[in-house]
Amino acid sequence: MTSDENDRGGLHRLIYASRFTGPAQGFDEVLRAIIAKSIQSNRLDDVTGLLMAGEGRFLQLLEGPAKRVEAIYDRIAADPRHADLVRIYGGPAERRLFRDWNMGQHRLGAADHALLAEVGLNGFNPSALDAQAAETLLIAAGGRHRR
Ligand SMILES: Cc1cc2nc3c(=O)[nH]c(=O)nc-3n(C[C@H](O)[C@H](O)[C@H](O)COP(=O)(O)O)c2cc1C
Repeated sequence: MTSDENDRGGLHRLIYASRFTGPAQGFDEVLRAIIAKSIQSNRLDDVTGLLMAGEGRFLQLLEGPAKRVEAIYDRIAADPRHADLVRIYGGPAERRLFRDWNMGQHRLGAADHALLAEVGLNGFNPSALDAQAAETLLIAAGGRHRR
């Protein structure tokens, strides 16, 4: 943990799931816009994370200084492009899981069924996950993008 994070109440992690509200054919374009905005904006707040998206659903992890993560989440929660937000975890974290990405993304594909099955999902319905399973899934998804 950096002293910067200490000053603002320690490293904080937040995980939530939500449902895309737009038409299916608009999903990828919205995802692109969200990622572009998030990379730019989260960098300024020293926030990192991963957004997993597919089947009209989102699963996102945000980590960084507590106040900043919660402020971003407040904005996200008010965004009409998604609904039915389920907060899976919000609390302290020992270390960053995605320190290299201000917002990484994983677009769910056909090859990901094994990934989902590992956490007991038959289809991408992340709002049913507990914190441990959500972290496991996000780490596995993020791992696909590392060499
Ligand atoms: C699924 C989803 C994830 C998002 N993730 C982020 C994020 O990590 N960081 C961020 O700044 N905005 C994120 N946004 C966008 C915010 O909801 C909001 O539109 C954006 O922060 C711009 O807010 P502003 O116009 O009030 O500055 C996300 C939106 C959605 C629908």
